[in-house]
Amino acid sequence: MGAREVGLPMRVASPEPAGLPDQVTIWEVGARDGLQNESEVVPLEVKLEFLRRLADAGLVVLEATSFVHPKWVPQLADATELLAGLDPAPGARYPVLVPNERGLERALDAQVRDIAIFASATETFAQRNLNSGLDSQFAMFDPVVSRAVGEGIAVRGYLSMCFGDPWEGPVPVEQVVTAGKRLLEMGCFQLSLGDTIGVATPGHVEALLRAFRVAGVDVGRLAVHFHDTYGQALANTWTALRHGVSTVDSSAGGLGGCPYAGSATGNLATEDLVWMLEGLGIEHGVDLEALVATSTWMAEQLGRPSPSAVVKALGS
Ligand code: HMG
Ligand code: MG
Repeated sequence: MGAREVGLPMRVASPEPAGLPDQVTIWEVGARDGLQNESEVVPLEVKLEFLRRLADAGLVVLEATSFVHPKWVPQLADATELLAGLDPAPGARYPVLVPNERGLERALDAQVRDIAIFASATETFAQRNLNSGLDSQFAMFDPVVSRAVGEGIAVRGYLSMCFGDPWEGPVPVEQVVTAGKRLLEMGCFQLSLGDTIGVATPGHVEALLRAFRVAGVDVGRLAVHFHDTYGQALANTWTALRHGVSTVDSSAGGLGGCPYAGSATGNLATEDLVWMLEGLGIEHGVDLEALVATSTWMAEQLGRPSPSAVVKALGS
């Protein structure tokens, strides 16, 4: 049965809508987080076509690539060529990941106006992902943020391993809040809380959001970034929405993983998110049928089916 026969879910708002936003910004990470872990290099034209189709489906924040060391993430070694070949959709933003000053130079050369730095809430992942440390990573980011902000570039801060870390186990909430506040105080306009290995559950999400609130952080500056390893991403997102979060990261078709966290699987699928938002009557701006067609096409390019439940249900 295809999308046309099923239509969209019946709109039934939450019985207690007080905590739910009217509108959610979907931060689409498919082209970056979704592809960075693919072992076979995806051709540049396929990446460009993917981004074009995602924009055509109505997504307006499209994380495009990373200016990291090409040896660390070979899949995204074509970042400069990708941005040169991009035909930006009107009104769309194409943020890129930047870890250090060298990455910022490359991003500025490519005329980027939106970047994201990515920190770790744990020592081990800071070492493995950034060749740095829980404390020393901030010295790497500081000049990046001050220069970028000075040039009028929007800087998002990611914080990984906010819930659990494969080497260190559960991560104390206070440790996450301390690291997250440092990114905001440094000048990031937004902090995306990453469940890099997908171990969070709704109660933990609630505890972390409360802790940020108690620490004086406005929930309007927080976004959530759930991987779906244990099937909790949508439940966690629902919890975050109920606590006032209105920016949600997801990847089309549920693509994704992190090359430096072996246990990380795909992100929350954008289709699964859109289905839930649609049912709740929350504005999202996405044409679900076009998005499912895009993820079905991308799955063919990658040679394996999408793990998204909604793509499976609606895809042809
Ligand atoms: P390093 O090896 O310590 O770098 O890597 P370095 O500063 O010692 O420099 C060594 C050489 O690399 C130098 O060249 C630099 O110029 C060059 P040489 O002088 O030897 O010829 N170099 C660069 N070249 C190009 N672009 C650059 C760059 N930087 C240095 N940006 C580094 C440190 C941070 C660069 C490295 O660890 C790295 O690239 N890490 C990125 C890992 C990554 O991309 N992980 C995935 C993204 S994070 C994620 O997925 C989580 C997230 O989704 C949220 C969640 O799920 O939790 C965001
Ligand atoms: Mg991620």
